[in-house]
This record gives sequence, structure tokens and C-alpha cells, in this order.
Amino acid sequence: MAEYESVLRTPELGPGEMREVEAHGETLAVLNVGQTYYALEACCPVDATNLARDGWLRGDRLECPSDHALYDVRTGRRADGAAGATAPPLRRYAIDVAGNEIRVGPLLAPAEGDGTGEND
Ligand code: FES
Repeated sequence: MAEYESVLRTPELGPGEMREVEAHGETLAVLNVGQTYYALEACCPVDATNLARDGWLRGDRLECPSDHALYDVRTGRRADGAAGATAPPLRRYAIDVAGNEIRVGPLLAPAEGDGTGEND
């Protein structure tokens, strides 16, 4: 079983906030959406913009400032309709909160769904 790596403490990541962290040898974006935490690869697959540093978190959507790709934080899939329907999703990692420690675990399987976020 892959290990969980402690990356942040809960007071460091309030609702609606996002932080760049390093875990499992990868740069990740850890996000707090309504007190649910998510860990996604930070590198936008379109053209490698660092989403953790430069992206915009809008509700449960993560927007890339470069070409405005929109990702569903819950699934990592593109959420900007037809333009992103066949685009690769952001890789997602398991996440766990133990006490006030936010920990990132193993890579998750790609989410099911149609990429709109509406049926996920
Ligand atoms: S780098 Fe993200 S949409 Fe262009």
C-alpha cells in the first residue's frame, strides 16, 4: 500500500483555497472545496501551466489561466464541454485528514463520467 505523505495542516488551507505541494515526487494542487479536500496534479496537460500556482479555483472548478481549460476538482476531468471532452484529465490522488494533518496518498483510478461534471 502506498504511503500517505503529510503535506499541510488544516489551518493552512481554508475553504475555497488551494496550495502547491510536493508529494510522491510530483507537484500537486491541494484544494479545499467546502471542507472536502482534493489532490490533483498541478501541471495542466494542455501546455504545462502550473495550476496550483497560477490557476483559479472557482467553486468546484479549477480554471487554467493560459487557455481557460476548466477542470472538475472532484474528478479531474475537463468541464468545459465539447472542447475538453477528449482531453486528458488531471491525475487525482487519495487524500486523508488525520487530526489536523492533510495527507496525500496513492494515485486514484480515472473517474467515471462524461467530463461535464454533471453526471459524476
Ligand atoms: S496550459 Fe492549461 S489550458 Fe493552456
